[in-house]
Parts: sequence; C-alpha cells; structure tokens
Amino acid sequence: STGLITYDPGFGNTGSCSSAITFMDGERGILRYRGIPIEQLAERSTFVETAYLLITGKLPNREELTHTSVMLNDASLLHEDMKIFYQNYPSKAHPMGILSAMVNAMRSFYPELIDLEEDISITFLRLISKVRTMAAMAYKISKGHKTVYPRPDYSYAANFLHMMFDNPVIPYEMDYDMVQALNVFWILHADHEQNCSTAAVRVVGSGQVNVYAAISAGISALWGPLHGGANQAVIGMLEQIRNEGLTISKAVAKAKDKNDPFRLMGFGHRVYKTYDPRAKIMKKMCDLILKKDRPAENGGMDPLLDIAMALEDAALADPYFQEKNLYPNVDFYSGIVLRAMGIPTNMFTVMFAIGRLPGWLAQWREDALDPLRKISRPRQVYTGETITDYTPMDER
Ligand code: SDX
Repeated sequence: STGLITYDPGFGNTGSCSSAITFMDGERGILRYRGIPIEQLAERSTFVETAYLLITGKLPNREELTHTSVMLNDASLLHEDMKIFYQNYPSKAHPMGILSAMVNAMRSFYPELIDLEEDISITFLRLISKVRTMAAMAYKISKGHKTVYPRPDYSYAANFLHMMFDNPVIPYEMDYDMVQALNVFWILHADHEQNCSTAAVRVVGSGQVNVYAAISAGISALWGPLHGGANQAVIGMLEQIRNEGLTISKAVAKAKDKNDPFRLMGFGHRVYKTYDPRAKIMKKMCDLILKKDRPAENGGMDPLLDIAMALEDAALADPYFQEKNLYPNVDFYSGIVLRAMGIPTNMFTVMFAIGRLPGWLAQWREDALDPLRKISRPRQVYTGETITDYTPMDER
C-alpha cells in the first residue's frame, strides 16, 4: 500500500496502479523517465534512445542503440495489403481513426506471439517503426503523392521528415534544427504515468488481449480534445483569437466564463498544479526553430506564437487561473513547433501518438510481466433505484 491507496496489481479495483517507469510530481513540476529528469533527456538524448530507456529500464550502449536503429529501419515497410485502409476510408477521415484501425489490424498481419522476456522485442520495434510509416503515408496519400520510404543513413526523426516531405520534383533538404525539435517533441511525449490513454492501454491489456489491440485502444483514447487532441485545439483557439480579432483580455474573460464554451486549450492539467516542465522545454524549441528569415508556413516567425505568449502572460497574471493552479501544459506550445515543421494540423495528435507509443509499450509490458496482475475491474457507487418489481405492459 502507498498509504494513500491500496496497491492493486494492474488497475484492479482501486483504479490506480504501481509502476516503476515514470515519476511525476505535480506540485513541483517534476517529470523523470526511469529516474532521469526530462530536462536532461530533452537536451542530451534522442527519441529512439529514450524509447529504449522507457521499455527496458536502461539506456542502450552504442551497440544496442545501433542494432535498434537498424531494426527500426528494416521494419519500416508496410504490408502492401495494408494500403487498402487509406483507399477505403473517406478522404476526409481523421488520421487518428485510420491509425487506430491499422494498428489493430497489425495483429492479423503479424500473428507471431511476442516474447515478453526480450527487452526490445521485434513486435515493439515493428510498431514503433510502422506507425511512423503509417503517419507519413497517410499524409502523402492525402496529397495524392507517391509514398516515400526511409533512407538507411537517416535517423528515426530525420527519416520521418524525409518520408513526409521529400518528393521527386523538390527533394526535401534536411533541416537538423527541425530534426532536433522533432526528437525533443517525441521525447517530451514519450510517457506520462497513468494518463487517460496509458490507462486505457493497461485496462484493455489486463484482459490479456494482444498488444496491437491494447495500443489501438490507447490511440483512440488519445484522440479526444481534452487529451492528445488538445495540441490541435490550441491552434484552433489561437486562430479563432486572430481571426475574430479578440483582444487577449477578451479571450481570457471568455475562458473564465462558464457559460462560454471557449476554453483556454493547452492550459490546466489533472496532475500538474504548476508549470508543466514539458511546456517550458517546448517553448524553448519555438525559439530554436522559428527563424526570422523564413515564411510563417515554413518555420518563419509565427503570429500565433505572439498570441500564445501574450495569452500565457495574461492568464498567469489572472486571479482565476492563479487560484485554480492553471498553467500551460505540453500542448500549449507544441502545436506551434509542429506548424513550423510543416506538419498539417489534423496530424498533430498522430504526432503525439508516435511519441507516446514507447510509453504505452513499456507500461503494457510492465503489466504483462507482473505475476500478481489481475484483470482491471474498477467498482462503482450505485445511485440507481432500490429493488422494484417488473411492471406488466398494460400497467405502464
Ligand atoms: C494532456 O493526464 C495527462 O498526463 C495528460 C497529458 C499526457 O501527457 O498524457 O499531460 C496530455 O492531455 C494535457 C492536457 C491537454 N488538455 C487541454 O489542454 C484541454 C484544456 N484543459 C482542460 O480541459 C483541463 O484543464 C483538463 C482536462 C486538462 C483537466 O481537467 P480537470 O481536471 O477537470 O480540471 P480541473 O479539475 O483542474 O479544473 C479546475 C477548475 C475548473 O473550474 P471550477 O469547476 O473549479 O469552477 O479549472 C477550470 C475548470 O473548469 N479549468 C479551466 C481550464 N482547465 C480547467 N478553465 C478554463 N480553461 C481551462 N483550460
């Protein structure tokens, strides 16, 4: 027992669990993966190295990291039959719906059982690699362009930008500031304790369903605007403020008005009651990649960033937000970073899912390896009718 809650293997009946993967302190704004502060990982690690750390519990040595990177590139091809998902979905379908369906379908294409004792199984590497291909392929197909496969000389993040933006007419010129920003974006999103989507992965996984189905459930849970969909909603909010010519003070007033559906997206958190440490790092990434000599749609100075920073200053100075401990969360600036990379807004949550996948896999594996694990079965407080008799139709 933790003194606060009774420990239940898996989620059991208390709706919470024990885990050795990620530590958060919501009051002090602390986040650590396997004990390493997020600030150090963002500054010194890469997404692949961080994924290895989360899943195995240790940083890879050079040989292990090289082997993992080679395996990720080798596993990047999609089974040609999987392309029908793109052809048979409506053209306006949200990429998160396609991604969730395709990941679930992977069980049928790769039926071999997972070896849980392996630190980094081919099943995990296959998922981490193929979701990157699926995302880039969804973008290419949405534009009617032919799909691009990764190059062996590019890193995971560089290959994603290559797969997204390279084309035979205008070859994509790799921008290593963007590669760094993408690594940091995915590192910051890689895990976050028992958030909505990770809890979904653990709850669905506790029934001993295959890992693809559990991850597909996590993708669906992440889709919502209060969770992973918030990065897309922040851009919508900033564009609304710009397009409607709202003053910052008017926007803050609308966010406080319970009768107004306008919310300060990217603000507030279930756990952080201070500044989300990831938001601080993401804000710095804006300074790294937004260049004065570029057009806004390609990493230039973004008017939405100015609105975001003014909105942050005004909200943090407002007693309503102060009293409720509402601060920027990871989503407040992440959309600005993705816009600067040229990622379309409807793919922002897909980008979050690619980043969160190693965390989901690590947490699913931790649960699957727990000999004490039970199926998740939260209880309820019954508030319905007391016992009553059946009423025959003629008496209703
Ligand atoms: C993520 O859990 C995780 O770890 C998630 C995540 C991860 O990495 O997995 O960190 C990723 O999902 C970040 C959150 C992204 N969502 C948003 O930015 C959407 C906007 N935020 C809010 O919807 C809200 O803050 C939530 C959903 C994040 C938290 O919701 P809660 O727990 O219901 O908020 P709360 O109980 O802390 O709210 C306290 C008060 C309430 O007012 P009162 O009822 O006390 O009068 O603050 C108000 C809320 O109405 N409030 C807001 C607000 N967020 C909370 N008011 C205006 N704007 C907001 N954004």
